Amino acid sequence: MLSAIRCYLLPIIKLYLLALKVLLVQLLSRPFRLPVMPRQDGKVAIVTGGGRGIGYEVVRHMARLGAHVIIGGRDEQEGLAAVRRICEEYKEAKVEFTKLDLASLQSVRQFVQSFKERDLPLNILLNNAGVMLLPEGRTEDGFEQHFGVNYLGHFLLTWLLLDTLKDSGKCGYFSRVVNVSSSAHRIGEIRLNDLNSCQSYSAHAAYCHSKLAQLWFSSHLHQELQCGGFPLSSCAVDPGMVDTALYRHLWTPLCLAQSTIARLLFRTPAEGATTVLFAALSPALEGGECGGGYWVNGHREMTTPPSFDPQLQLSLWETSVQLLGLQ
Ligand SMILES: NC(=O)c1ccc[n+]([C@@H]2O[C@H](COP(=O)([O-])OP(=O)(O)OC[C@H]3O[C@@H](n4cnc5c(N)ncnc54)[C@H](OP(=O)(O)O)[C@@H]3O)[C@@H](O)[C@H]2O)c1
Repeated sequence: MLSAIRCYLLPIIKLYLLALKVLLVQLLSRPFRLPVMPRQDGKVAIVTGGGRGIGYEVVRHMARLGAHVIIGGRDEQEGLAAVRRICEEYKEAKVEFTKLDLASLQSVRQFVQSFKERDLPLNILLNNAGVMLLPEGRTEDGFEQHFGVNYLGHFLLTWLLLDTLKDSGKCGYFSRVVNVSSSAHRIGEIRLNDLNSCQSYSAHAAYCHSKLAQLWFSSHLHQELQCGGFPLSSCAVDPGMVDTALYRHLWTPLCLAQSTIARLLFRTPAEGATTVLFAALSPALEGGECGGGYWVNGHREMTTPPSFDPQLQLSLWETSVQLLGLQ
């Protein structure tokens, strides 16, 4: 009984209390207004999950600024419809869709292979796609779904694209990896001996763990890149509570209430995209010193102490490398 409360009920209570707090803070503060960003002609960006929600707004804005944007997504129809809409809005837009299922390591490898065959540079990698509150299930390769899609799939994608990102950056024009995390990371826990939540499964906890893992990845990657002196930075972003389809797996009555509350009180996807765009494009974040960190509503924020434990970050990194069979 006690362990059921600890494993299932506690993560739910913690997540909803956190959501309430985040929503209150959000309601009391103005949404960040994105300053005018420089033109992005000649730059190439990959945005995972750019077919809808926050990712779609990011792609739309980048395309308007002249970037060549590749949407990596699972749903071809949705992705192609997004491309069509953006091209109708901006006749000059250079946007395309390529199939990418982050729940399949083979699909991630195929995506990278087809991208590399084109010999394009890569200036921005936006790890945005995400799932939340899925019932217990496994990815094609047997990983818990939140861990596999939100974190491990993006880990592999970034790893395989690192050489292109490094080659595409220059002093004064660093390439950037932007990881869309969440305030939910604050109640995540990384259990290295149970990354797939085999001992007990809670969808709420699994989402939080995956977002913490993403944040650790972002921070560790940035440190490695800085130590190596590479013209590439990595940062994480919390877009705030945004009215998107991410919440569709909530328990049905809660989902109905949430959609009404979200319409009234949450940020719009365009508002949610502003800090993500700032992290990806702003000259204020140029270079290894200014880049990196965790960004919320246009400001750099401190994360909870465990996020800054370099030893834990390193252990997760090494375990991920092993799980993915990387060298
Ligand atoms: N909305 C919020 O309040 C909020 C708050 C904090 C953080 N975030 C983060 O913001 C990011 C964007 O979420 P959103 O709110 O815009 O949600 P969304 O509208 O549901 O968008 C998520 C995107 O990820 C894609 N995706 C899901 N599984 C995938 C897979 N296996 N392979 C490739 N693409 C996949 C989805 O495409 P399909 O499912 O159609 O394939 C969709 O395009 C997520 O990382 C989320 O955790 C959102």
